[in-house]
Amino acid sequence: MLLDQPRNPIVSCILSSASANGSRQRSALARGILHPTGNARLFRAHIQGQFMDKLIIEGGVPLTGVVHVSGSKNAALPILMGSILLDEPVTYTNVPDLRDIRTTFKLLELLGCPNAFENGQVTVTPGALSPEAPYELVKTMRASVLVLGPLLARLGEARVAMPGGCAIGARPVDLHLSALEKMGARFDLEDGYILGRCRKLNGAHIHFDFPTVGGTENLLMAAALADGETILENAAREPEVVDLARFLIACGARIEGHGTSVIRIQGVPRLGGCTYRIMPDRIEAGTLLAAAGITDGELLLTDCPFEELDAVIAKMRQMGMEIEPTADGVLARRSCALRGVDVTTQPFPGFPTDMQAQIMSLMCLSEGSGVISETIFENRFMHVQELVRMGADIRLSGHTAIIRGVQRLAGAPVMASDLRASASLVLAGLAAKG
Ligand code: UD1
Repeated sequence: MLLDQPRNPIVSCILSSASANGSRQRSALARGILHPTGNARLFRAHIQGQFMDKLIIEGGVPLTGVVHVSGSKNAALPILMGSILLDEPVTYTNVPDLRDIRTTFKLLELLGCPNAFENGQVTVTPGALSPEAPYELVKTMRASVLVLGPLLARLGEARVAMPGGCAIGARPVDLHLSALEKMGARFDLEDGYILGRCRKLNGAHIHFDFPTVGGTENLLMAAALADGETILENAAREPEVVDLARFLIACGARIEGHGTSVIRIQGVPRLGGCTYRIMPDRIEAGTLLAAAGITDGELLLTDCPFEELDAVIAKMRQMGMEIEPTADGVLARRSCALRGVDVTTQPFPGFPTDMQAQIMSLMCLSEGSGVISETIFENRFMHVQELVRMGADIRLSGHTAIIRGVQRLAGAPVMASDLRASASLVLAGLAAKG
């Protein structure tokens, strides 16, 4: 990510730790870590060639300064895939420079949408489309499945590698497929690939069993070019879904109700280009708020999506943090010793599962105890054993973690699993002794 002022290595650190399966990240992000100013040297990153695969954190220093929140990864991914729907070039700004985003550019290129990315801006020029999203790319990024809806809408054909399980659970795509079937698509599984075909997608009345974020996004894109009206009930209300809808509307789509659980889409015959700014990343912002709290520092976040962080901010305030919007940005610090709270992850506007690991780190160093219930993913507690290795007191019982605050955490070698788990370990490392 780009640092507004390189005084805050935490930002780069958290984003750089997007290391599913411990894999490597781009060194551009590490530069902010290697050259922090204004604070003690908190980090050193070991870099091999272009990539970083290890972070060494010297904890115990309060983080202070101003951080610009970068563009949202989870909004950018579907919006970039949305390029496939267009018959004119499109320019995106505020695009974060992350591995998944680079993978998306490769995928778009293979599908017939050449692109040029520089300084957070990219122009994608949809050309002659090809229907195949190969396993080599899909296996590194599950969100590749979001090309399914756009390819079916444009080509009537899609061949997308079946995304496998991932670090945080099985994550099937059955809801995407059954909803697209209602619109007239037919699917077969062949050699590990989902083969989708349709003559033309037709508007349909779809009720999701669960407000799936990716499923809602895939269907929004498919329905934008379908014949007639599509109604999505029990749709996801996440801000990233709203950002996708806004982008599609800017390209000429007719969508109403985004941000509520019933979205209505009137299909249009074509979509044109536009220039679109990706929304700021609410999870990155929330992670930074946690960094201010866990290090007893003071951070001012610029371009912080304050309203989209309601549930997170409410819990952090309950824990004893002061988080206030000011004319210059959102100011975060702690007003007293932190207290444990109970958290249950929920679809938006509830507490986001993508902030579960980070708030757990904060609770590890709070007074009293708290309970975290994970209701979205079945296997999202992989950070727990690593936090315990640093001295945390956490007991797991099924989908629930009971956290008793301890006086201090101690530095230890820990293993990063998924992106948010990695962020939680960085947070713990920042506050740990050694
Ligand atoms: C998106 C986010 C991810 C976030 C999640 C929930 C992106 C790229 N990723 O993931 O960071 O944690 O939303 O806020 O935006 N499910 C099914 N069948 C389906 C679809 C989903 O059973 O067809 C289940 C999943 O296995 C999971 C739950 O529903 O347990 C949530 O999935 P979903 O809301 O679709 O999340 P993603 O779009 O994968």
